[in-house]
Amino acid sequence: MARYLITGIAGFIGSSLAHGLLTRGDSVRGIDNFATGKRENLSDIAKQIDFREVDLLDEAALSDACRDVDIIFHEAAIPSVPKSVVDPVTSHRANINGTLNLLVAARDAKVKRVVYAASSSAYGETPVLPKHEGMPSDPISPYAVQKLCGEQYMKSFYRVYGLETVSLRYFNVFGPHQDPTSQYSGVLAKFCSAMLRGDSPTIYGDGEQSRDFTYIDNVVAGNILAATAPASQVAGKCMNLATGKRITLNQIVEILRDLTGYKGEVTYAPERTGDIKHSLADISLAQKAMNYTPHVNFEDGLKKTVAWYRTVSSTVATAR
Ligand code: UD1
Repeated sequence: MARYLITGIAGFIGSSLAHGLLTRGDSVRGIDNFATGKRENLSDIAKQIDFREVDLLDEAALSDACRDVDIIFHEAAIPSVPKSVVDPVTSHRANINGTLNLLVAARDAKVKRVVYAASSSAYGETPVLPKHEGMPSDPISPYAVQKLCGEQYMKSFYRVYGLETVSLRYFNVFGPHQDPTSQYSGVLAKFCSAMLRGDSPTIYGDGEQSRDFTYIDNVVAGNILAATAPASQVAGKCMNLATGKRITLNQIVEILRDLTGYKGEVTYAPERTGDIKHSLADISLAQKAMNYTPHVNFEDGLKKTVAWYRTVSSTVATAR
């Protein structure tokens, strides 16, 4: 049985991954500094995991956390394009310095593999769709630069030290337990909770921007595949992790009107700095390398997501 470490375990993706691994009977250690993670996300598994409150910038605590670990899922980050535009230095420290510290600690502890939460934002505004891993990257925001730099470090540590690393470029992950309360929250978390409350969703721009939204269960499954696939298939690689379909914000609002019963107006506001217009993934590399298939499609994922936001309080939707 492999021993796993999840960085950012109290976040939306990290905690979902922890639940997925525990369901399989795996042993899970996790670290988080609660910069964006929530204790509530761990409340029902607190007794089953070895949790440590650790910041990625604390090298001694990090090296301790990596001891006796086989595989690391590196989800910890300050995961926001607009936040990085407002404060690039803080997000640089967490996303680049933190990632390098983790890689050094993993190498020194002889960890076998690190699976990294990379980002589709690395592609930037390239006109070609779908976006495939062979395309040149063209990051726009500081966040995109940081996530791309993390990928390069992953590759470097495989080439130079033989630490198996896999970068998964996530495309707009959504699902239950995503925090809707910050101004930087993912758009679907914000829209679902606002429309269920009867509040107007705000669309930045004309709403014709599109995204390849990826349901959380697909991301958990993709991570487990990346952790367990033969090294010859995945080590040193970077792969898209997505659904392979795109949808515009205007279309989503119409679907959400049906699912939530919201009948009010939609507010349009100026486009966000650093935003890209369209995003769609070619997922054939992940399919070929590790047999990845997105088992939950966008519509079913959105239904499950709305159902979850309906069950939790209208403002603080984080308790498991
Ligand atoms: C980007 C990255 C993604 C990364 C995420 C972290 C791309 C393609 N994706 O997502 O890999 O994990 O950052 O933050 O770059 N919007 C509204 N109203 C709102 C909130 C958002 O209209 O209330 C719009 C945004 O302006 C954007 C779209 O919805 O056009 C999606 O925004 P968001 O959910 O924040 O994610 P991205 O910035 O696309």
